[in-house]
Amino acid sequence: MKDNKQILAEKLALANLGGGQERIDKQHAKGKLTARERIHFLLDEGSFEEMGALVTHRTKDFGMEKQVFYGDGVVTGYGTINGRQVCVFAQDFTVFGGALSETHAEKICKIMDMAMKIGVPMIGLNDSGGARIQEGVRSLGGYADIFYKNVMASGVIPQISAIMGPCAGGAVYSPAMTDFTLMVENSSYMFVTGPNVVKTVTNEEVTSEELGGALTHATKSGVTHLTAANDIQCINQIKQMISYMPQNCEDKATDIPFEPGNEIRDVLEDIVPENANQPYDMRNVINGIIDQDSFFEIHEAYADNIVVGFARLGGKSIGIVANQPISLAGVLDVDSSKKAARFTRFCDCFNIPLLVLVDVPGFLPGTDQEWNGIITNGAKLLYALSEATVPKVTVITRKAYGGAYDVMNSKHIGADLNYAWPGAEIAVMGAKGASEIIFRKEISAADDPEAKLAEKEAEYAKLFANPYSAAQRGFIDEVILPKDTRRKLIKAYTMLENKVATLPKKKHGNIPL
Ligand code: COA
Repeated sequence: MKDNKQILAEKLALANLGGGQERIDKQHAKGKLTARERIHFLLDEGSFEEMGALVTHRTKDFGMEKQVFYGDGVVTGYGTINGRQVCVFAQDFTVFGGALSETHAEKICKIMDMAMKIGVPMIGLNDSGGARIQEGVRSLGGYADIFYKNVMASGVIPQISAIMGPCAGGAVYSPAMTDFTLMVENSSYMFVTGPNVVKTVTNEEVTSEELGGALTHATKSGVTHLTAANDIQCINQIKQMISYMPQNCEDKATDIPFEPGNEIRDVLEDIVPENANQPYDMRNVINGIIDQDSFFEIHEAYADNIVVGFARLGGKSIGIVANQPISLAGVLDVDSSKKAARFTRFCDCFNIPLLVLVDVPGFLPGTDQEWNGIITNGAKLLYALSEATVPKVTVITRKAYGGAYDVMNSKHIGADLNYAWPGAEIAVMGAKGASEIIFRKEISAADDPEAKLAEKEAEYAKLFANPYSAAQRGFIDEVILPKDTRRKLIKAYTMLENKVATLPKKKHGNIPL
């Protein structure tokens, strides 16, 4: 007779094998790791503690009582990443293609509840054929239970979703409601309806990859924030990303030890070209300001006229939102406004101070933008920055024109400190456009209209294409030399460390969606 220990050992060995060696080999042949391998690489060595390894489904239909696998297609538990506690689930594609059953959903809900109770980040590694078809509506109920918990956890603990295989139908909405989504290139896809349904309904011929692959969602839809070449890279991105985050909304991200030294950065003096119409890469400004190699860019391939990401400044975690002059001259449009608003709100949820770098010629004109709601979408960024109560600091590197000046963390919407470089132009619009409007009659009546325009342009530029009108009114706290920016910002965030700001009592605001 088997003794108790032997029975347990056998059960756990079976659980470890998931759907069996043959299916594990198939998973490896696709270049994918198994759920357990992914957790192994994600968490600190030996830190993983599994919960629910022996859970099984309860279905009797379609001969399912004969197909029972311990764990029921998802591995759940807790462990540490660089010593920090996290909760994790990893769907096991070797068991019913990782399809979500009632019990599978219960396991995910249980670990999410745990993450909420103890206030730690929740990481979901998704690899699933969707709803467990044999279970019908019970499986759909399971999804909804998870969605509801995603919403309840939103803003309480960081939630991260990695898509490491299929993720289709209702399954997409859990990742969509988490804070960040990562996708593995060529082995993952996300869509509400797959290519076959698309063909039937719209007659479009499209592959899974084109419809919802990593590249598609990184560039066209913005559904994914990061893409990775393979599972390991994806896992490393998660580890790096959470290093900038606190454990929960009542916590602050841990500082990295920092010894102040000579914080002058001469490199910042030569980045902005003298010609105001010449582009430059705002990433050079970012890298000149922050701690070396600390920029972790989010949504890099989507709406690249704005740059967002995490960085360290004097060892502290900050979130950066920056116009990008090398793309569309850094204008605000529908996509860049949404991208920046979402990132701003994440930082505000989790006490990550914001740095806004401004070089913006305005909003992008055109029917495409107007008909796609640049008004409502631009308002998202305005709302998000206004609502944020974390330390908020602005540096205007060059242009800050029109309504976009207001939106980009101006003093008026609650920025704590507003700096401008000496070459900044803070005005309603560029000098040429302004002169053409307000001196139109004078210019057309002149003997030499071109010379008159140039004269008026110079007059307007002298008055407004500088930071001093704004500084006179206190809209700019200080005009600083570019090389001094890092030094000023380190002191600014230290000063703002214990900032307390609260919003008026309300149920919740109504951000223009
Ligand atoms: N429910 C139950 N079992 C499922 C499943 C689901 N939704 N999706 C996949 N499986 C099972 C398969 O029966 C197969 O079982 P087996 O190992 O015993 O043979 C296993 O998971 C792997 O599936 P397979 O189709 O061989 O893998 P694949 O890599 O070729 O294709 C999918 C993956 C996801 C594209 C494909 O399985 C699929 O289309 N699944 C159904 C998707 C769906 O319509 N979901 C319901 C709506 S959300």
